[in-house]
Amino acid sequence: MRSSVGRMYAITIPEPGGPEALVWSEVPDAVAGEGEVLVEVVASAVNRADILQRQGFYNPPPGASPYPGLECSGRIAEIGPGVSGWAVGDEVCALLAGGGYAEKVAVPAGQLLPVPKGLDVRRAAALPEVVCTVWSNVFMIAHLRPGETLLVHGGSSGIGTMAIQLAKAVGAKVAVTAGTPEKLDRCAELGADILINYREQDFVEEVRKATDGAGADVILDNMGAKYLDRNIQALAVNGRLAIIGMQGGVKGELNIATLLNKRAAISATSLRARPVGEKTAIVAAVREHVWPLVDAGHIRPVVDRELPMSDAAAAHRIVEESGHIGKVLLVGQ
Ligand SMILES: NC(=O)c1ccc[n+]([C@@H]2O[C@H](COP(=O)([O-])OP(=O)(O)OC[C@H]3O[C@@H](n4cnc5c(N)ncnc54)[C@H](OP(=O)(O)O)[C@@H]3O)[C@@H](O)[C@H]2O)c1
Repeated sequence: MRSSVGRMYAITIPEPGGPEALVWSEVPDAVAGEGEVLVEVVASAVNRADILQRQGFYNPPPGASPYPGLECSGRIAEIGPGVSGWAVGDEVCALLAGGGYAEKVAVPAGQLLPVPKGLDVRRAAALPEVVCTVWSNVFMIAHLRPGETLLVHGGSSGIGTMAIQLAKAVGAKVAVTAGTPEKLDRCAELGADILINYREQDFVEEVRKATDGAGADVILDNMGAKYLDRNIQALAVNGRLAIIGMQGGVKGELNIATLLNKRAAISATSLRARPVGEKTAIVAAVREHVWPLVDAGHIRPVVDRELPMSDAAAAHRIVEESGHIGKVLLVGQ
């Protein structure tokens, strides 16, 4: 379907609901404002947050596009006022506050990254959200160091597959949890050292066993309340728990004594709502520290499959049922 002049196609959510709530619709063109560029989208990728948005539980932050999509890749179609360092036609990928499931999206220039060397522009869409989330939480906040142990919950998720690769690249030991042997095998291929099936094993016990009783120095947690107590138990002395998800609920009970005795720290962040200035700083750090690893081929996006963007509903069904490993891409028409 071709859009009329001044209009484009995007996935809209007329009413919150199941995957069928995602509708490929004609909408007004995105416009690059001050400090922004307009990107013609080649691909976007599904994040768990998109599912929450579709269900009506996660509204876009003020000023963000109403359409889902927290990352994209594509080509710069227009440069807005006050932007330098980028040119029309540049192949880029971008961290977004929304709007990636569309033919075009306006992006603050500080949230752009060049498509890494040797990587197809489509696959670059799988990188910005996971790389920025993992880098900002595991490295900028929790300061994972070489030789330390990182426990990643949901090791085969988009986030998990990137966390394994980044932690291994800096010389850390990596423990992962996942729900099937096949997913754990894939984590091992990416470099994970300690494989824990969360349906059959107790991760606290397994992490202790594998670290001579010490525990994990850093934990990247997607579960929130359900794992709070056990995460603290699994932490080493001076350990850091970085919470990025609430898949196991929002209210938990914390044993302060254990936290004190371990001199441990807990952080919790959401990337989407952070101001453009903070995202710009994270993207700059990613470009400096992570992009050389991607350019050199040491880190690669893990792409489960590619679907047409107009069939975003099918992609959401797969991610909701955890039928994927890594990322599900949505490719434009
Ligand atoms: N705060 C932020 O800025 C931010 C940014 C991006 C993502 N996130 C969060 O990060 C998490 C991963 O995101 P994603 O898009 O990569 O999601 P995803 O690919 O859909 O993965 C979800 C993961 O949760 C795992 N899981 C389910 N139940 C579990 C349990 N009881 N124990 C351990 N793992 C369990 C699944 O494992 P199995 O498939 O093996 O069952 C799967 O790997 C989500 O919670 C998301 O909201 C946060």
